[in-house]
Amino acid sequence: MSRIFVTGRVPEVALEKLRAAHEVDAWTGPESISREELLTRVAGADAVVSLLTERIDAELLDVAGPQLKVIANVAVGYDNIDVPACTDRGVIATNTPGVLTEATADIALGLILSVTRRLGEGERLIRSGQPWKWGMFFLLGSSLHGKTLGIIGMGSIGQATARRAKAFGMEIVYQSRSALAAEVVAELGARRVDLDELLATSDVISLHCPYGPATHHLIGAEQLAAMKNSAYLINTARGPIIDEAAVATALQEGHIAGAGLDVFENEPDVHLRLLELDNVALVPHLGSATIETRTAMATLAADNALAVLGNEPPLTPINAR
Ligand code: GLV
Repeated sequence: MSRIFVTGRVPEVALEKLRAAHEVDAWTGPESISREELLTRVAGADAVVSLLTERIDAELLDVAGPQLKVIANVAVGYDNIDVPACTDRGVIATNTPGVLTEATADIALGLILSVTRRLGEGERLIRSGQPWKWGMFFLLGSSLHGKTLGIIGMGSIGQATARRAKAFGMEIVYQSRSALAAEVVAELGARRVDLDELLATSDVISLHCPYGPATHHLIGAEQLAAMKNSAYLINTARGPIIDEAAVATALQEGHIAGAGLDVFENEPDVHLRLLELDNVALVPHLGSATIETRTAMATLAADNALAVLGNEPPLTPINAR
């Protein structure tokens, strides 16, 4: 029997799987676990099931001890994990790709609709109790049909977002490290372009790339200036891919028309100037937040931990031992 530490609350079905075969300790506090508590509780663990709010770095791996075999992250993004530090110590790291693709693409489309059709503004107006009535020019937004969606990072979530946008009558261009398979290109009619062309021609830009040194502030003042004044920026990937202060300035000064943000540079903080602006839709990192998806993510993370503890290959590894 191995010892597993779970760094936060996860659906019971995943805990039950783990408990059936191993000794499980889990942080169940309403807030994220403190760093101090985390470092105390991981000591001696053979497996850690981690949430994206926890930093898994060399210090933590060393405190956990040499028996540690696996870090099973309950997220597809793994910028919270120092993967080379895991690899150096022979620790397998895993994530949860696939199971959150559709839910995250739904939120990307939700943000696109929310900001282009001014849904948040409309709701705030009604809730404020101010008088309103239908008017020819009242709260006019921007149509999606016939417009171009530029997708940065055309992995599974980017493709799922493209598929939805196509159903809304949008043209798709994308920028990605690798070209899409021919059948996906045929299905989506998507055209691969470089970043400059994507910035200059897209009516909506949606980010779906991983976060890392190569994508830090990928969208900053220069890129925002290269976008159309009528364009919208959507981020459901990771906050620091955009320079949040530069986005606030671009929105204030009318360099772009609007933004829809699910992720932020310093979560849970949101740049204060964004809170003052009406042309930005803000939601608190809800990309994968459905009951079904979170259950599938936690179950996949549990299966990854169980596989490694049972000396089987993990289902969705990030690194190799
Ligand atoms: C959520 O942000 C995830 O990476 O799964």
